[in-house]
Amino acid sequence: MNKFEHMSLITKEEVRDGLQNCTNQIIKILPEFTDKFQGSNSENLWYQPVENRSWTTGFWTGEIWLAYEFTKDERLKEAALVQCDSFYERITKGISIASHDMGFLYSLSCVAAYKLTGNEKAKEAALLAADNLITMFREKGNFIQSINQPDNKPEYRMIVDTLLNLPILYWASEVTGDVKYRDIAVTHFRTTVDVLLREDGSVSQAARFDNETGEHLLNYTRQGYSDDSAWSRGQAWAVYGPAISYKYTGLQECKDMYAKTAPYFMEHLPEDMVAYFDLCFTEGDKWPRDSSAAAIAACGMLEMAKYLETEEAEFYASCAKKIMKSLYDNYMVRDFSKSNGLLLHGTYCCQTDFNAMIRDLGKDECTSFGDYFFMEALMRLHKDWEMYW
Ligand code: GLY
Repeated sequence: MNKFEHMSLITKEEVRDGLQNCTNQIIKILPEFTDKFQGSNSENLWYQPVENRSWTTGFWTGEIWLAYEFTKDERLKEAALVQCDSFYERITKGISIASHDMGFLYSLSCVAAYKLTGNEKAKEAALLAADNLITMFREKGNFIQSINQPDNKPEYRMIVDTLLNLPILYWASEVTGDVKYRDIAVTHFRTTVDVLLREDGSVSQAARFDNETGEHLLNYTRQGYSDDSAWSRGQAWAVYGPAISYKYTGLQECKDMYAKTAPYFMEHLPEDMVAYFDLCFTEGDKWPRDSSAAAIAACGMLEMAKYLETEEAEFYASCAKKIMKSLYDNYMVRDFSKSNGLLLHGTYCCQTDFNAMIRDLGKDECTSFGDYFFMEALMRLHKDWEMYW
């Protein structure tokens, strides 16, 4: 881990400058992306406006909320609330909601709206999203299914990404007083640890279960290099996920998971601390990086640092500040004539010899999740931030 001792930490001034830069970009493109959303990734570094259909649209709304928090500019609040109306329509009309992504979608849009403005319609939408998410809990296997198709054998599976969909369940229990959401979240968390966490601290992305018996059948990857390697963003979900679950539950097992996944992530970073799309790759490999994994892990380290003993807390806070310095110096979009995104060199999906079923998508591009988490990490370093999760 001493490999990164020489790296510099991002400064307060750089954090403020980074947030200002991101906010300037968001305000610049807001007219085009108020009634529409950003796609999951840029194409040749440009996002196209899309309808509110995919699992990723909440990231853009979350960016607008972060920019609003930074500036208190009412134009941003109005635009974010327009987007929340779209999320209300999506959940009430049942448009593209048959997946576990309810947290990614509704925490960053409607929970954020409720926390920041007290908007009741947004709260109602987020609670409906939580209700929808718990319909995907499968008692045979004790997990939240990633796609809501109860009897579909190949889809009877869990994925590590779901860890970031648990916070909306914890939040729903807090605001309703009904523990059923939290209980499902904790049960799913425990199955994730049992099934996806490997001995060495890395995680598998996915596990398939028998839909008749609930028996765990096998593990595999969907977006990593191979079934045995560690997909970088999946590992980052497994760094941030336990930190948020710990915040809401105080359960030691969350810290225990983090104590394995965070060191694995750090130990497998290349020189500049920004992972290739899979942690099995090191310096000079031909594969693309995934800057989103770096930003997600930085958020997780900053969150967990709040609950760790001083020495460990300082260590992880400094890891996060070093990662963010690297992203700020070499990955942040500064020239808005070249891209309408915020963070360069992300990867959504990358085809490999071991994983030919996955097609290339958003390779070496801006990604909506990379942009969002980059800004969230900056906000965490800017002030004592109340998270939207
Ligand atoms: N949750 C899908 C992904 O991280 O690409």
